[in-house]
Amino acid sequence: MRMVDLIEKKRNGGELAEEEIRFLIGGFTDGSIPDYQMAAFAMAVCFRGMTDRETAVLTDAMMRSGDVVDLSRFGDKTVDKHSTGGVGDKTTLIVAPIVSCLGGKMAKMSGRGLGHTGGTVDKLESIPGYQTTLPVDRFMQQVEDIGVAVIGQSGNLTPADKKLYALRDVTATVDSLPLITASIMSKKLAAGAHSIVLDVKIGSGAFMKTQADGERLAQSMVSIGKACGRKVVAVMTNMDIPLGTNIGNALEVQESVEVLRGGGSEDLRTVCRVLAANMLHLCNGWDLDYAERQVDESVASGRAFAQMKRWIAAQGGDTRVLDDVSLLPQASVRETLESPRSGYLTHMDAQLIGEASAVLGAGRQTKTDPIDYAAGIVLRKKTGAYVRQGEPLAVLHTNRPGALPEAKAAFLRALSWGDQAPQAQPLIYGIVK
Ligand code: URA
Repeated sequence: MRMVDLIEKKRNGGELAEEEIRFLIGGFTDGSIPDYQMAAFAMAVCFRGMTDRETAVLTDAMMRSGDVVDLSRFGDKTVDKHSTGGVGDKTTLIVAPIVSCLGGKMAKMSGRGLGHTGGTVDKLESIPGYQTTLPVDRFMQQVEDIGVAVIGQSGNLTPADKKLYALRDVTATVDSLPLITASIMSKKLAAGAHSIVLDVKIGSGAFMKTQADGERLAQSMVSIGKACGRKVVAVMTNMDIPLGTNIGNALEVQESVEVLRGGGSEDLRTVCRVLAANMLHLCNGWDLDYAERQVDESVASGRAFAQMKRWIAAQGGDTRVLDDVSLLPQASVRETLESPRSGYLTHMDAQLIGEASAVLGAGRQTKTDPIDYAAGIVLRKKTGAYVRQGEPLAVLHTNRPGALPEAKAAFLRALSWGDQAPQAQPLIYGIVK
């Protein structure tokens, strides 16, 4: 078999056979197929697409390119959640303790932030002492003992995706439904959970900017997951506006604690309730109404917060910061950004706000950039609010005062104004089962 023939076949709109897809993923992973041929193939897929069968085989081949985690000892109770990425998305920190204190087993591998989006691993590392790498036997034992463990992605999980994603990033081939589906689902399937809830973010801060694109991605990932024998649901959620009020690592831990103690903002609580209820529906077989009531009860009774402390302590984290969030990393500068005008906030571009937060130190532009756990933005107003000139719009937290002018300019660029309240946007666009 020759790679050049497979590129040509796809370029001409043909459907690849299973052995052809396995040949190209195997060869790319072991280095016998060079980057330039894989890049040409990825571009052909961008133009020609893939059939459902091809996408399923591609996902399976990528999943098997490295380690596949075996969680069978936990039976059908294992449940995972994956977000397609957004701004202020701290839902894992909230749903992991809720779901695990209600019987779900969460053996979770999470990612770091890149560009304007945050990552759970960075957020957890803002808790002093928290270990994001654990030996496999300790990881498994913790899931057995308390129901939850969250670590960074293991070194040899889906190496084909690691290589291919890096290549797509620099060859303008990220934007392809079958390639995104295979990339996300190969990682989730390799991570081993029996049930998976996908949080497909839609809007200005998300990868999928329109509802139609989000729905296509959701359908595609759900059908692949099911074809691979997993229970999968995709919840399509709003990422046109940042989720909650806090953006930045320690600030997001702080807001997660607020939610688990019964407070926090309504949008964040609602999205977490829906995600957690769908996870419990899959792993416990509960109907959704009952699951939502159990979620609320776990927060109101303090069980979910107690579970968060158990989890953080098990991974070496200092739980005093959860009782007293002022012990989390704090920025030396907090600057209130006042509104330059009066009017209705009709839109906030979540990507630009994420970029402003990254400029303050909360994110990185390249994988090796250092991160400032204390940096970020606390929103005081969100889309739909009427704001008077001079009222606080947000508080910028940073240890890099020199970054303030650029961050402020990006933040203000993110805002659109009008004389009338905008139409309220849905928080949940729909659920694909
Ligand atoms: N997230 C991924 O993991 N892969 C993609 O291709 C896009 C988003």
